[in-house]
Amino acid sequence: MCAGDGQSRDVEYIKQGTGSTDAGGTGAALKREAEERAKVGARPGVGRGTAREAGESPYIQVDRVLKRCQYSQDALIEVLHAAQETFGFLSEDTMTYIAHQLKLPLSWVYGVASFYHHFNLKPQGEHICNVCMGTACFVKRAGDIVEALEREFHVKAGETTADGKLSVNIVRCLGNCGLAPMVILDCKVHARQTPETMLRNCKEAVEG
Ligand code: FES
Repeated sequence: MCAGDGQSRDVEYIKQGTGSTDAGGTGAALKREAEERAKVGARPGVGRGTAREAGESPYIQVDRVLKRCQYSQDALIEVLHAAQETFGFLSEDTMTYIAHQLKLPLSWVYGVASFYHHFNLKPQGEHICNVCMGTACFVKRAGDIVEALEREFHVKAGETTADGKLSVNIVRCLGNCGLAPMVILDCKVHARQTPETMLRNCKEAVEG
């Protein structure tokens, strides 16, 4: 993957690792991310104690991957993955930082991050339920599963419950249509689901 040199740079770049408190700088970026994460809490095992030691750049894990890949634009997905592992989701500030480091337009980075359902652009809950709404799953009534989850957990698709326990997302075809309707709950595949089975699975996860 490579962006042409002539493409516009539509990003306001963030200074790397300065701890600056200027409005567009790393300090402000870190503060905003911490506030967003605090709303729902960090996911278990994600982003804890990795890049947040005192005095360290919040992007230290991302920087390690960038250096290992020699700042190659082809490494964009790997870098996004490292950022999500660190922060639990990809904020605009994080994507802006990555865009600057790889000399890519922010729109390019955003386009890749939003294309893959693996990447979260918002803070996620403790448990994540991704309901496939591709054609095969849709015709097998995946919409009923989403509606049942929305009703039971008082949450809209694409959002997280008020207690931060469960995020319900709609995703594109997960590539295994023979298992429709298919749901991925906390990285585990649940094939040929019904509203009843998914309600039970989600309740077990949340209450577990
Ligand atoms: S449409 Fe759901 S897996 Fe393909």
